[in-house]
Order: sequence, then C-alpha cells, then structure tokens
Amino acid sequence: MDRRPTQASLHFAALAGATIALAACRVPPPPETLVEKGERIFFNETFAGNGRTCRTCHRPEDNFGLSPNFIATLPPADALFVAETNPALAKNFENPRLMREFALILENQDGFDDLATNFNLRGIPHTLALRTSVASSAGPRTGWGGDGAPGDGSLRAFATGAVIQHFAKTLARVPGVDFRLPTNDELDALEAFQFSLGRQQDLALPLPLVSPVAARGQAIFLDNTLGKCNACHVNAGANADPRIFGPNAGNRSFNTGVEALPDQPARLTGEPVSDDDGFGIPGNGEFNTPPLVEAADTGPFFHNNSVATLEAAVGFYDGEAFNNSPAGQLLKTATGSGIELDATQIAAIAAFLRVLNALENLREADNLAMRSIAATATAARGTELLGRALEELDDAATVLRTAELHPQSVAKLAGVRLTLERARKAHSGERTRLVRGVLAALPGLRGELVRAN
Ligand code: HEC
Ligand code: HEC
Repeated sequence: MDRRPTQASLHFAALAGATIALAACRVPPPPETLVEKGERIFFNETFAGNGRTCRTCHRPEDNFGLSPNFIATLPPADALFVAETNPALAKNFENPRLMREFALILENQDGFDDLATNFNLRGIPHTLALRTSVASSAGPRTGWGGDGAPGDGSLRAFATGAVIQHFAKTLARVPGVDFRLPTNDELDALEAFQFSLGRQQDLALPLPLVSPVAARGQAIFLDNTLGKCNACHVNAGANADPRIFGPNAGNRSFNTGVEALPDQPARLTGEPVSDDDGFGIPGNGEFNTPPLVEAADTGPFFHNNSVATLEAAVGFYDGEAFNNSPAGQLLKTATGSGIELDATQIAAIAAFLRVLNALENLREADNLAMRSIAATATAARGTELLGRALEELDDAATVLRTAELHPQSVAKLAGVRLTLERARKAHSGERTRLVRGVLAALPGLRGELVRAN
C-alpha cells in the first residue's frame, strides 16, 4: 500500500494541528500540587488490597477520624467492614462487634506472629494538626503508642505500616500479593497532604475568652499547681512543658494509667481484649500525648476509646487510675501533688476545650469557604469544600450546645449555616456572593467567643 500522504490526509493533519494550537491557547488546568496528589491517594488509593483507602477510617466528614455514630450511618458493603464480608478476613483481622459499638480497630503493633492473642484494640485518631504533634526530642512520635510507623517512626513512614495492617486481602500479608506497598513518590505526597490538614501552629494561651466558665477552665488548665494539664499539653497542644520535661521536650509519651481504668467499655462486652503495652516491643506502657484543641469533636477519647464524653476524659485526671500511674507519680514529684478536681472545675476545663474547638472549627470553615471560591477548576470541588465547611459549622454548634455554652451564638450559627447550605446548592455567581456573606459573618461569631486583643 502506498504510504505517501494524500491531499486529504495533509489537510486533516493541518486541521488537527490548528486544533491542538487552539487548545493550547486555552488556560491549561494547573498541575496537581503535591498536597492535591496526596489527597487523591489518601481518598481513593486501595494499594491493590482489600478495597480500603486511608479515607475508610480517616473521614473528612468525621474530622479525619471515625466515631461509632458515624460508623452506624455506613452501608454494610463499606470497605470498613471487610471482616464481615470477606471470609479470608473473618478471624483475627478486626472485631466487628467492638468496631461497630466503640469504633475500635484491631492492630498488631508488636508484630504479626501470634494474631490470636497479640493484638491491640485502638480508637482511630484524627490526622489533624500533625504539623504540631509529631516532632519530639526523642524522635518522631506517631499513633497512640508513639511507634505506629515502621522504621524511623515518621509520619512519612506511617502510610506503609497502615497499608500492611489495614489493607491486606489475606492474613498472610504478602507484599505484591495481598497489597502493594506505597512508592516513595506516594509517601512524599501522603506526607505533604497529612501535614496540610488542620492547624499549622500552636495557640498562644491564655486567650481573652468571653465565657466566664471557659475562662476559669483555661486558668485551671494552665495552673501548674491545680489542673496541671499544661505540663503535658502546652497551649492545649500535644507538646510537653520544657520547664518540667527538658529542652525541646516536644510530643512526649507517658503512662497516664488509661489501661488501669476499671469498667472499660470494650471489656464489659466479654469480647477478647488484650492489655495494650503502648510504646515499643515489648511496650513500656506509655502512650503518645494528643493535641486537645481538636478533642471536643473527635471523641471517644484515649487510645482505647474508654470514655465517650469530653467531661469524662477531663474527669479521668481526678481519678485513681491517673494519680497512681507512673505519670501521676512523676507529676507528684515535679509539682508536689497529683491532680484533684471537683465537678465544677472538670466542667470548666471541658468548657474551655469546647470553646477552643469551636474557634478551631470556625477557622477551618473560613479556610474551606475561601478555598471553595478559589476552586474554579470544577463546580464539584467547590461543592465538596463547602460541604466540609458546613460540617465544621455543625461541629462548632454541637460542641457548644452540648454543654449549654454561648446559646446566643449557637442560634446565630444556625443562620450562617443556612446561608452556607444555600451557597452549596447555588451556581457560580450566586454561590460566590453567598459564600462571601458567610465569610463576612464569621469574624463576628468568633468575637462572641473571644475578645479581640
Ligand atoms: C481500618 C482503619 C484504618 C485505616 C484504613 C487507616 N488507618 Fe490510620 N489509624 C487507624 C488507627 C486505629 C490508628 C491508631 C494507630 C496507633 O495507635 O498506632 C491510626 C493512626 C494513624 C495516624 C497517626 C496519627 C497521630 O496522631 O499520630 C496516621 C498519620 C494515620 N493513621 C494515617 C493513615 C494513612 C496514611 C492511611 C492510609 C494509607 C491510614 N491511616 C489508614 C486506623 C486506620
Ligand atoms: C503527664 C502528662 C499529662 C498530663 C498532666 C495531662 N495529660 Fe491529657 N493526655 C496525656 C496522654 C499521654 C494522653 C493519651 C493517653 C492514652 O490515650 O492512653 C492524654 C490524653 C488526653 C485526652 C484525650 C484526647 C483524645 O483525643 O482522645 C484529653 C481530653 C486530655 N488528655 C485532657 C487533659 C486535661 C484536661 C488535663 C489536665 C487536667 C491533662 N490532659 C493532663 C498526657 C497528659
């Protein structure tokens, strides 16, 4: 066959060239940033495993964690429930009853040798504010035990451990067969995305809080002779006080006695539960300090989800389990006494943490709403970001309402929420106008919780 170009094919080639040139004149979509790539992997990548993604447990709709109430809304086919739907994972992969009732996930931090007895049941922590809660003078600390990541313990390495633990198709856990391991590029992107979530820096306390109860709670929290919370959660974050724990103390681990709590919910069921030994193999009983600004809307609390309310989590520090623990004893040595709090003081500290959380939710709602305006690539992306902003406003209202805090502001929040909901359903020009209205209203709401300095 003659392969020389005909008149017609030359004409076609010229046309195609012109089309390509025209297309090039249109503004090309901006290249995917590392954070966007990380988000795509975190939300969608199954690593050729059992169908789970990172998002299966770290849900943006549930503050990048997962609670029993949220699990109850999921369909039976959700990949979270692989132990119920995949016979190869029916035993020693999850405990479905404890997952559904208490959002507990089965993990094998001390190795996969003896699956029937050597496991831990842990709550799913949020992945927010990691920028402020990983670095420590003792090396990076990730997960409840502080050693969740294989190798160097870093946030970057964490994803590899998560895939091996949670993504396997069978308990043999053979890389390349039961899942594939993340590539270096994927680890870089996942790390960048996770570092981008939530707060990027710690607060500077005290804040001029409007609620007298929250303000008193803040004073007790910061008082190293009363609440003593700031010793380990400086500025309601995850880092320890260098005056007590040495220079650059950072994100430390402690044995605060949570494992010694009587009547832990999971144990009341009669299901097999093992003692969790925390950091190291074998563990030293220590758990990693989480940040508290994010706490109010990310219960249940502590590594084993042993209490469901923030008030109970604060009340823990008044109890025997804490005061008899190695950390309780340490505090006694450093400050002369343990922690002794009455009901009004427990409620005040919780009120303080609720207000901090509401303020953080307003900040995040503002951030997401701004990004929705900038997200011109697709309308769906804007809708998604506004959906997340709505959830932040809902959380702000819920954490305050639950403790009867700032009732007037909660009522106003409902109005702002309505505008945001309308924006989410509206089209481009109208949407931007409504979102700008919401953005204009947020500083006023913030001002009702904390006075301008
Ligand atoms: C089946 C549920 C599940 C899946 C799927 C899952 N995680 Fe987790 N994640 C957990 C649990 C439970 C912990 C607590 C682990 C520990 O204590 O060591 C955790 C802890 C973490 C932490 C530590 C947070 C902190 O505050 O230190 C990070 C980071 C994390 N996961 C990232 C990931 C990434 C990345 C993926 C996907 C590759 C993923 N997770 C998939 C359940 C899950
Ligand atoms: C000696 C260090 C230390 C002191 C003092 C301390 N904490 Fe903690 N806190 C921790 C550690 C470690 C954890 C994680 C324990 C676990 O899960 O086993 C924790 C967990 C928490 C949690 C649960 C957070 C979550 O996301 O599940 C709350 C709430 C909390 N602390 C509040 C307080 C308050 C309020 C005070 C003061 C009354 C206080 N802490 C004093 C070290 C400390």
